[in-house]
Amino acid sequence: MKYQSFPGMEDILPASIQVWQQLEKRACIFFESEGFREIRTPIVEPTELFCRAIGETSDIVGKEMYSFLDRGERSMTMRPEMTASVARSIIQNNLLRNGASASVYYIAPMFRAERPQAGRKRQFHQIGIELVNHVEKSLADEQAITSLYFFLKSLGVPNLKIKLNDLSLINGPESEIVRGRMRDYFSANRANLDPDSLKRLDHNVLRIFDSKNPDMQSMIEQFPWDQAVPLSDEFKTLLDRLEKRRVQVEIQRRLVRGLDYYTGVVFEAAAGGLGAQDALAGGGRYDRLYGELGGGDVPCTGFSIGVERLLMTLESATPQFSEKVAEETFGFICVSQQDEVVDYLKSTVRKLAATGILVSVDPLFLKRPVKPGKEIERALKAGLRYVILLGDDELNKKVWLVKDLREKSQVEIADRDLERILKEILVKGKTV
Ligand code: HAM
Repeated sequence: MKYQSFPGMEDILPASIQVWQQLEKRACIFFESEGFREIRTPIVEPTELFCRAIGETSDIVGKEMYSFLDRGERSMTMRPEMTASVARSIIQNNLLRNGASASVYYIAPMFRAERPQAGRKRQFHQIGIELVNHVEKSLADEQAITSLYFFLKSLGVPNLKIKLNDLSLINGPESEIVRGRMRDYFSANRANLDPDSLKRLDHNVLRIFDSKNPDMQSMIEQFPWDQAVPLSDEFKTLLDRLEKRRVQVEIQRRLVRGLDYYTGVVFEAAAGGLGAQDALAGGGRYDRLYGELGGGDVPCTGFSIGVERLLMTLESATPQFSEKVAEETFGFICVSQQDEVVDYLKSTVRKLAATGILVSVDPLFLKRPVKPGKEIERALKAGLRYVILLGDDELNKKVWLVKDLREKSQVEIADRDLERILKEILVKGKTV
């Protein structure tokens, strides 16, 4: 064939589009119900933006960017990630005026000139969120990590693990002291360093921990983290919060992430079925990026999920995943003004979404307590078959009212049976 797509840049053909569309739809539903709004930015940005944001010594800026001069001799780059683009857009459009915060999500293609292999492409896609200017930092970090965890759980990701580390000392005000300790350690072991790491020793010692060279692993593993870089109190507070939310995490001290903008907690999600490329998603706190770009003091946290890797994991766990994603959507309707009822409904919806079964809930119906008749009409128009109502009486009796709009039937289901019955409806298409 005369013309071929470039290596690592693949077509998504009609035969496999359904699974992409379903995944995108579920991401919109999930993140909008968590209070995020979508943002779309240009694929191409000024090269300088990514150099400043991601860091000159990172692999991405050093060797993976698709950069070119346009006809006006401006240096442009096809975005390798979204965090810098989102920051540029939020500053340029003045979205933080009067101390406002922003919670945004995106689903978009990224470009990195890496060596293509399974799970590593040159054009790939990310689903991500950024929490910008939320001043209660551990609360924002908690929201980012719980959203990531429960979104992946709701899709049924197998062997999901969230690995966490604390970079606040390494990249905070005491950075020089802490990095000095790292330099001392690796200088004392200089004979074992490969040429790449020798360069990193002088330019950015942290990047030595990224090394995949098998001969250096035992030396890297033996770095005395607890004495050299103790965990901060902020990080410990976050761990407590995550434990209360039953998010399972694992501290991994050598997780340093490949981008230079992180200043606090960093995290990655790993899953079964990915082999060497086991990072399904990555993120962390970055409090200095907006300052670097001229946007002032703006605390931020966020993450991005790699869509290709997510699909690989899901398909290895459930080969018929693409058929299964076309599940039923349940519309939850709150028929009460009481906070207690609204909160109970929301926490149940979240629990259902986290069961790992393909229950999907429509958050349009969660926004405010309403008169049921109008909302049921809206659900019918949206093509929903089932709606599930909770009001004061139902909460007192610990039941839910499930209506099948197609069969025009309804049934009260005990709270403890709700999850099981919804699963039955999904699997057997059983009417209520
Ligand atoms: P990242 O770790 O560079 O972080 O990328 C996030 C995810 O994108 C990875 O975990 C992986 O699943 C996927 N990914 C990265 N490179 C490739 C590739 N060449 N082929 C396929 N998938 C890939 C970021 O991009 C940050 N912007 C995350 C963030 C958001 N931090 C704060 N906010």
